Amino acid sequence: MADITLIDHPLVQHKLTLMRRKDTPTAVFRQLLREISTLMCYEVTRDLNMTLEPIETPVAAMQAPVIAGKKLVFASILRAGNGLLEGMLDLVPSARVAHIGVYRDHDTLKPVEYYFKAPEDISERLVILVDPMLATGNSSISATSQLKARGAKHIRFLCLLAAPEGLGHFTTAHPDVPVFTAAIDSHLNDKGYIVPGLGDAGDRMYGTK
Ligand code: URA
Repeated sequence: MADITLIDHPLVQHKLTLMRRKDTPTAVFRQLLREISTLMCYEVTRDLNMTLEPIETPVAAMQAPVIAGKKLVFASILRAGNGLLEGMLDLVPSARVAHIGVYRDHDTLKPVEYYFKAPEDISERLVILVDPMLATGNSSISATSQLKARGAKHIRFLCLLAAPEGLGHFTTAHPDVPVFTAAIDSHLNDKGYIVPGLGDAGDRMYGTK
């Protein structure tokens, strides 16, 4: 069964509504995305393995909890993924970062891969793939396949909005990858936009339209 987590925290839902509004200005949209990604990062990392290490407080020695294992990798699907990356790095500044260039051909809606750069040892790290919009699922399926081809074994996918079509497509292609999203919208329209959605996340974030 697909592992899908809906992040329904009131702050996430409120900020998402502000982002959906068509008259929200670019700067506000970008700031909200940064804030929301921090909150979502908190949820996607909530079950990380912990270990104890000896420390000394000013008062006594103790065994204190720290996150176990190697640093996380945040993998951003360019370009809109970078909007989620900022807030996540605010929370986990030591995370490593991968960039995956996949764009959606506007006519065929198929993914076109043009860039991949990731830490060499991704097989030993938890990879959190980020892209705000899970629409057809083609880009995130392709990015996940590329990560797996480079050895990634533990991947989670974090998006802001998902269409049911894309969610079904993604979880069928990669049933081992848990998905975290703030909302599952109604459907995709014939241009591949999520309805009601928020429009083109990259254009809204960078003011390119
Ligand atoms: N990508 C976007 O930015 N928005 C959509 O609605 C679908 C894909």
